[in-house]
Amino acid sequence: DDYDLDGHVDFLSKEIHEQPAALRRVLAGRLDTRFATARLDGLRLDPRELRGIRRVTFLGCGSALYAGQMGAALVEELARVPADAEQASEFRYRNPMVDPDTLYVAVSQSGETIDTLAAVEELQRKGGRVVGCVNVIGSAIARQCGAGMFLHAGPEVSVASTKAFSSMTTSFALLALLLGRVRDLSAAHGTRLVDGLRRLPDAVEHTLAGEPEVAAVARKYAHAKSMFYLGRVRGSAVAREGAQKLKEISYVHAEAYPASELKHGPLALVDAAMPCVVVVPDDEVVAKNVSTIEQVKARGGPVIAVTNADLPDGLADAVLRVPRLEPELDPILLGIPLQLLAYHCAAELGRDIDKPRNLAKSVTVE
Ligand code: AGP
Repeated sequence: DDYDLDGHVDFLSKEIHEQPAALRRVLAGRLDTRFATARLDGLRLDPRELRGIRRVTFLGCGSALYAGQMGAALVEELARVPADAEQASEFRYRNPMVDPDTLYVAVSQSGETIDTLAAVEELQRKGGRVVGCVNVIGSAIARQCGAGMFLHAGPEVSVASTKAFSSMTTSFALLALLLGRVRDLSAAHGTRLVDGLRRLPDAVEHTLAGEPEVAAVARKYAHAKSMFYLGRVRGSAVAREGAQKLKEISYVHAEAYPASELKHGPLALVDAAMPCVVVVPDDEVVAKNVSTIEQVKARGGPVIAVTNADLPDGLADAVLRVPRLEPELDPILLGIPLQLLAYHCAAELGRDIDKPRNLAKSVTVE
């Protein structure tokens, strides 16, 4: 039963561990091996309409926004279509310019978030084309959009979003693949991504098996007053979502920053009392991230690296590893240890993990 703890001590632990199964459901029937693309029939867009899209804008709040930021990066990388993500709460009030050639994607686990619903209605009033990326079938946003991608992640009970978040980012990889394959993304590149997506649920399972190591790191750093989460390019949104998870359930202050901005201000805050979580994908900027870690270490800051790269021995104080998959999918995997880190920091501090203070599962009133 979806509402049983199933042997877990809380729903957050259960939902974190349900991710491999949730991702298998997101991908079910949506990978097209023959044409090396994705099938997202629920969007109700034919290839000509898909080709006519000149921009993709994701709208959501909180973690749904960070998922949208990962989605925008995937769309730009794979389809070479300009893409961005915006707080639905800001969008609805700032008299946005609505462009008929933009595909707007409303992102919401619950499908009931009032700001996201209002942004959808405002868009539709101005003639914008909006599809949903929603978990709850029959929810207000799903009904208002009338087309989109359901996550099929199963009920998410814990206030902190985990399995819905990784399901969102996985469905955006499908969207980016689809948009890429009606443009210039080659069949060979498409095949590599289809294979990578197929292997993703097992890679998540493998990452979750590293939980005892993450728990040990959490016990060491949970009592910090504040933490930095740093990442660049593919690591940026991973850092933002990681910081959000920590704040939400452990009440430890956390701030995400692009690693490249460190020297423009926040480095002044780094000392032995400021652990820095650095997201290091094994990509073109790995050397830059190594140098970020060295700069933090030079100021005495403890470093927790989350990585699939071979970092020099002793560089970081703690290393949380994820398997290598396909570089474009790294953000999805790199986020998993950060969920576990937040979870075990909250557990160490004795927090009410499923129901953090002051927060509701979905924000349905302003
Ligand atoms: C996620 O951990 C948070 N609880 C919160 O930011 C959430 O993602 C946000 O309120 C949006 O909710 P939704 O996906 O149901 O629209």
